[in-house]
Amino acid sequence: MENQIFLDDAVSLDVLKNKKVAIIGYGIQGRPQALCMRDSGVDLVIGIGSETRPSWQAAIDDGFTPVSIAEATAAADLVYILLADPPQPAIYYDSIHDNLKPNSTLAFCHGFNVLYGAIKPPKNVNVVLFVPNGPGHTVRQKYLDGSGIYGAISVEQDVTGNALDMVLALAKSVGSLRVGSVGVTFQQETEGDNFEEQVLYGGVIHLMKATFDTMVAGGYPPHFAYAKAIRSLRTVVDVMDEIGIEEYISNRSSRTCEFAVRTNGPRVVNYDEVQNIFDETERGEFAARWMQEWELGMPRLHRMRRTGAESLMEQTGAEWREKFGEG
Ligand SMILES: NC(=O)c1ccc[n+]([C@@H]2O[C@H](COP(=O)([O-])OP(=O)(O)OC[C@H]3O[C@@H](n4cnc5c(N)ncnc54)[C@H](OP(=O)(O)O)[C@@H]3O)[C@@H](O)[C@H]2O)c1
Repeated sequence: MENQIFLDDAVSLDVLKNKKVAIIGYGIQGRPQALCMRDSGVDLVIGIGSETRPSWQAAIDDGFTPVSIAEATAAADLVYILLADPPQPAIYYDSIHDNLKPNSTLAFCHGFNVLYGAIKPPKNVNVVLFVPNGPGHTVRQKYLDGSGIYGAISVEQDVTGNALDMVLALAKSVGSLRVGSVGVTFQQETEGDNFEEQVLYGGVIHLMKATFDTMVAGGYPPHFAYAKAIRSLRTVVDVMDEIGIEEYISNRSSRTCEFAVRTNGPRVVNYDEVQNIFDETERGEFAARWMQEWELGMPRLHRMRRTGAESLMEQTGAEWREKFGEG
């Protein structure tokens, strides 16, 4: 199934008929995916850590009757874990592992904990992965628009012979087969995701900051620098995705822009460092550093959050949004 693209027409939701699906966790991904699945006719039970957690009330507000994670797991034929990744192992061994029904399906939305061995599912359940490649609110919005978010699916363990059908039905029920989902391994999904986050998100965000800071230090008005550093990227990324990078550079941008992109763009990217980050990710070093940071209570992240929030770029962005809205 690796590299195969799965589409709506070839997949049926029948495999979930008369089956109960437990959504464990009701946050950024859990809530929107659950709402899509309910609209697709899937029978859901929502499992949440305790009545005092914010998710509990959110689920009630959406018309669900949440239960404990252990109760939801014990009732379900498919258990879909949508908890934040770092607390997953402790919650899994406390409430999920011993309550899984034999021959049920255990689904993840990220392969991190299984790949690195923090969660070792029992041998008598299917183990699958489905990840829509976008933020939860976009998953929901696209579903409501009749479209979907491209996704990745994987089967790690198939004890019933229909684990692939189960995960495909899951993907279909949130709209991800309307636009296609690709088959990957748990390792590819996890390390690919971690690599993308470091190089692409990390790189682009710091490039935007460097553009803003350098222009402001060089005497440009902050609002102008902000528009250059962030706003100008918004539309061109969509166009490049729609028509291709080469078509965009050659025929949609100006010749000056084309010359700038082709000649000086590569000077900005340190390809050796991109490769180093890829290698570190494959060796599990990024995962180990992140788990250590989490276990210490995320001190570096808290410090960096404070510095980021107080930056001139953030203040300028807030003023921009107030004055110009989406413009
Ligand atoms: N965020 C994304 O865009 C995205 C994209 C693709 C895949 N994923 C994957 O989707 C999964 C869920 O991520 P998410 O971003 O949706 O997570 P999240 O919103 O940060 O948290 C999801 C749920 O985890 C619960 N939770 C957190 N700590 C807990 C604890 N100590 N005890 C009990 N419950 C706890 C939260 O409950 P409360 O709300 O009550 O605190 C919430 O219901 C992860 O595997 C992630 O890698 C996320």
